[in-house]
Amino acid sequence: MSILEKMETLEYGPSLEDSKEALAWLDRHARRFGHFIAGRWHESGEVFETTDPSTGETLAAIAQGSAEDVDAAVRAARAALAPWQALTPHARARYLYAMARQVQKHARRLAVLETLDNGKPIRESRDIDIPLVARHFYHHAGWAQLLPRELPGYAPVGVAGQIIPWHFPLLMLAWKIAPALACGNTAVLKPAEFTPLTALAFAEICQEIALPPGVVNIVTGDGRTGEALTAHPGIDKLAFTGSTEVGRAIRNATTKKLSLELGGKSPFIVFDDADLDSAVEGVVDGIWFNQGQVCCAGSRLLVQESILETLTAKLRARMQTLRLGAPLDKAIDMGAIVAPVQLERIQRLVAQGVEEGATCWQPTNPLPARGLYYPPTLLTGVHPASTVAQQEIFGPVLSVLSFRTLHEAVELANNTVYGLAASVWSENINVALDVASRVKAGVVWINGTNFFDAVCGFGGYRESGYGREGGREGLYEYLQPSWLQNAPALPSGASPHSGAAFPGPEQGTPAIDSTIKQYIGGKQARPDSGYSFPVYAADGSLLGEAPLGSRKDIRNAVEAAHKAAGWARTSAHNRAQVLYYLAENMTHREAEIAAALAPVVGEAQAAREVALSIERIFAYAAWADKFDGAVHQPPMRNVTLAMHEPLGVLGIVCPSEAPLLGLLSLVLPAIAMGNRVVAVPSQSYPLIMGVLYPLFDTSDLPAGVINLVAGPPRDLGKTLAGHDDVSAIWYFADPAECETIRRASTGNLKQVFTHDGHAIDWFHAQQGEGEWYLRHATQIKNIWVPYGE
Ligand code: NAI
Repeated sequence: MSILEKMETLEYGPSLEDSKEALAWLDRHARRFGHFIAGRWHESGEVFETTDPSTGETLAAIAQGSAEDVDAAVRAARAALAPWQALTPHARARYLYAMARQVQKHARRLAVLETLDNGKPIRESRDIDIPLVARHFYHHAGWAQLLPRELPGYAPVGVAGQIIPWHFPLLMLAWKIAPALACGNTAVLKPAEFTPLTALAFAEICQEIALPPGVVNIVTGDGRTGEALTAHPGIDKLAFTGSTEVGRAIRNATTKKLSLELGGKSPFIVFDDADLDSAVEGVVDGIWFNQGQVCCAGSRLLVQESILETLTAKLRARMQTLRLGAPLDKAIDMGAIVAPVQLERIQRLVAQGVEEGATCWQPTNPLPARGLYYPPTLLTGVHPASTVAQQEIFGPVLSVLSFRTLHEAVELANNTVYGLAASVWSENINVALDVASRVKAGVVWINGTNFFDAVCGFGGYRESGYGREGGREGLYEYLQPSWLQNAPALPSGASPHSGAAFPGPEQGTPAIDSTIKQYIGGKQARPDSGYSFPVYAADGSLLGEAPLGSRKDIRNAVEAAHKAAGWARTSAHNRAQVLYYLAENMTHREAEIAAALAPVVGEAQAAREVALSIERIFAYAAWADKFDGAVHQPPMRNVTLAMHEPLGVLGIVCPSEAPLLGLLSLVLPAIAMGNRVVAVPSQSYPLIMGVLYPLFDTSDLPAGVINLVAGPPRDLGKTLAGHDDVSAIWYFADPAECETIRRASTGNLKQVFTHDGHAIDWFHAQQGEGEWYLRHATQIKNIWVPYGE
């Protein structure tokens, strides 16, 4: 063949990465691995094999962790906690720094191992996964050093249990272990059964740097090992990345502090003024990176109708050039699918999509003769409600839908239960940022996709989970307020004050007209039951009748709260003005409110509650425009705007200890951040609502922003917890019911915020007010904006 002919055809020849060193490393371990517990390797009876999905060859035998193995690892982590925390922040920083250095030193081996075990192209493991792992440890070495100065008043959570999937095995390990250790926790990590090798190589790195034994423990195994770790009572916090299904099971199985990074069906939105060639390359990164096995993959292409034909034609042409082949080949674009079960899942879901009316297009290039491969796939004519538009496929399959207007694009984008990421393509900054503000997603990339960095938070909205990984925002997942650790236990059962006596169903007293009403949608509403219940003073005397709330009242209140969605879009300044007005109005009625409270909590507490309530309203008026986000600076041509956004409608069940101050301490941070609230006033004095709603009515508070429904906290709390249109539940009543409420709220993976049985001193500014509450009232959206040359 002449040079001219070669230049014309540009015939492709394989260029395999050398795997000798990685295979020699496996051989040095006799291709058999135990668990890494307390700094040493532990054999386990049962083993399973991990294989190379591109050849089917066995790579090594891996220990299947039993409940005893998990227990040994948790004990080791517990024993290591005190010595690890006794180190100086600088000393911990040096260990994390050493991890980063060793990852770089072994980068080639780690990249090859990752590719062998997972099937991902070496180009990706070498240029993306492993460099990001090193970057994560460097970044968190910095946090370990700065923690006491940058996050004073916070303490480590303790022992972290961490369960990770197989799509970015070592990167997910870094996302979990680096922040946990930087914050002074110890960890027990379970890698995915398909891809345990790099976690085991990382265990060896822990030995190389002489990390104190027990600080990092790795227990391998399948879902059963994960279940044992989830159920272990010695875990203080669980962090999980993986499918929404398992995330929900874990949410059901634990009451511990939990962060969940789950599935997605992320929209990739292209407007007609986008740079289409860049958008095509974006799609390649968005859905064919890592064979589409990416939780934030841009798996739904939403295209403005006028460019639908042009863009899909360009995409087909580009897909035809994508090279599938041996993952170790440096010249391929797509490697193998991780496991037979995943390949079958992709095949099944695509077939279902076609059955539901989609048209399937795949390039004509033949697939490699052996190994688990699936071609890049385009599904057009996809109905918005069909399986392939709604379900995570976790494969190289792009579903195409079209839209006409920006409004329609946003509606389609938000039309799934998920909310992990979104990618917006337009040359018009107004269009791009308008859409970014409206999509329900924890990460938004403008004219880009699949950017990740250690300085930026990553995590979802809605059923994509909660909690963030990366940056300062990710640290809070491994910290808790220091005072909380020493707070006494809150006694369960009856309230400290006499309070209300709730009748059984249909046994209340028929409400008479003078009984105070529920407060729903800015109006006083008779309870649906038509009944009321008596409320008693501390000395047992009858104080009055409160309306007996039921499921129907809660449903009405949630509906009213949804109608008040405009509150989220009002400026922080305006929200502050409403709060200042409320404080002013309460000041005028200070003596009267104290007199109403006195029979329940005593004169002294009543006076303090009212005075402090006014101060607290001022405090949250102040916070409204000060609890703002951050601008992160990842090492790319971007800045990342980390915006605090409201969660939506919050259900709040109020504490009994301080009927007025407790209610306001929870409701105020929620509304200051733009949420709407359905609150159940305390059991000790639900009549406080009669005092509050005239104040709300005269303070320019829009109807539906605060709704109050009195009744049994447990029952109404359960109804709120089970309501799919409620985004989060804050339960601060009887500690005995916390678990019931948690369990009732797994359906839509609601965030739950409780006192976890600790007595909170509502009169103490540090305990009763501030960032802890504001953080629970918000979720962070990281918007990646092109910036710089
Ligand atoms: P998975 O969610 O089952 O597994 C993730 C991790 O959880 C693994 O370490 C696994 O051993 C562990 N695990 C499984 N069952 C558990 C349980 N009951 N308790 C505690 N830990 C448990 O994901 P899998 O089976 O690998 O894939 C299933 C589907 O989930 C995939 O087809 C894909 O669609 C999706 N997926 C989504 C991911 C994401 O990040 N969004 C990651 C991996 C899978």
